[in-house]
Amino acid sequence: MPHIDVKTTTRRYGIHVEPGLLGRLGELVRAVAPHGSAMLAVDTKVLEDYGKPARQSLEQAGYEMRLHELVAEERSKTLDVVMQMYEAMLAARLERRSPLIALGGGVVGDTAGLVAATYLRGVPLVQVPTTLLAMVDASIGGKTGVNFPLPVTAGGTAEIGKNLIGSFWQPHVVIADPETLRTLDPRQLRCGIAECIKHGVIADQDLLGFIEREADRIIGLDMDVLTQLIVRSAAVKVAIVEEDEREIGRRALLNLGHTFGHVIEPIEELQLHHGEAVAVGMVAASHCAVARGMMDGEDAQRLATLLERIGLPTVLTQPVGSQRLIDAMGYDKKVASGRVRLILPTGLGAARVVDDVDPATIRDAWLAVGAD
Ligand SMILES: NC(=O)c1ccc[n+]([C@@H]2O[C@H](COP(=O)([O-])OP(=O)(O)OC[C@H]3O[C@@H](n4cnc5c(N)ncnc54)[C@H](O)[C@@H]3O)[C@@H](O)[C@H]2O)c1
Repeated sequence: MPHIDVKTTTRRYGIHVEPGLLGRLGELVRAVAPHGSAMLAVDTKVLEDYGKPARQSLEQAGYEMRLHELVAEERSKTLDVVMQMYEAMLAARLERRSPLIALGGGVVGDTAGLVAATYLRGVPLVQVPTTLLAMVDASIGGKTGVNFPLPVTAGGTAEIGKNLIGSFWQPHVVIADPETLRTLDPRQLRCGIAECIKHGVIADQDLLGFIEREADRIIGLDMDVLTQLIVRSAAVKVAIVEEDEREIGRRALLNLGHTFGHVIEPIEELQLHHGEAVAVGMVAASHCAVARGMMDGEDAQRLATLLERIGLPTVLTQPVGSQRLIDAMGYDKKVASGRVRLILPTGLGAARVVDDVDPATIRDAWLAVGAD
């Protein structure tokens, strides 16, 4: 089975990618966390299709299973939900060796991940991602966390800060079954492809070529092509995480598009999913890179064309005041000593962290993607 070995300072683990793998979940979990009781944290939406077979496989492997349902919405990524999970785990008397298995997309993975990192000072975490975004990104590398309200601004609007409360906690294993993507909303699939494109832009030009060539088969859910896409995209994330587990340096490159994307994602009127916000953010970042002479205009155009071909937005669906967006960027975790740090492509297949982009360039980038 296609397999990637991840070596971090705190844990060594495997990422398994294969159609049909969910049926072998119990056996794969048992290989890394052979304790008798376990908790399955499952996205309500996938409970029927995948939660039940997952539970069955885990029970057949000898686990005494508890099931905890989570609503996978960005607004349910809260400390309240984390507390409810602690209560359920305590009530079920789960112990320090009891694995917590997160079955769902990035919302479930991040929230359950924080619970696994902190319950009894840490229990084994098994990530079973069921969105493309979670398979190639969120489930890998140990970042866990929930959202938290930002201080109320002078304008009186309370906005939510993304992933402000969290911890690094590497999973014991990641098990990705591409078959689970068959039920995924096509819009969510495109969001995952946005993250794959991001990985191509920052580190792997060949991956971009692969996505350009195979776009139709990817969108058409060809299992062989999807498996290759997941393995190649996940490999980019793994290489970066291995080099810089705690995001002191190179790992920040994975935030390409995110400093811009994180401020537009919570804006209700825009109705953007995470990957869509990142797509617009990557275009804004490429505008900055071109303006600074770091990237060819042609490469920036190639990126925008590919995003459009996949059906991802490259501009805001309606105008938002650029000053509001610039203000919100000030609360991003990637702000270093009061300056906004941006990840900018230096072509296709490479990027670097830049912390001296002048405010006029940032404003121009927002204007270029439709802000006013
Ligand atoms: N930890 C990290 O390193 C990291 C990296 C990237 C993103 N994230 C986080 O991940 C989250 C986004 O993840 P996501 O895009 O997976 O979102 P998600 O978990 O909200 O899932 C998207 C939607 O798809 C549904 N869904 C999930 N799997 C399905 C399936 N197989 N079939 C049908 N429906 C399915 C969910 O119920 C939800 O409605 C964000 O909160 C983001 O902050 C974390």
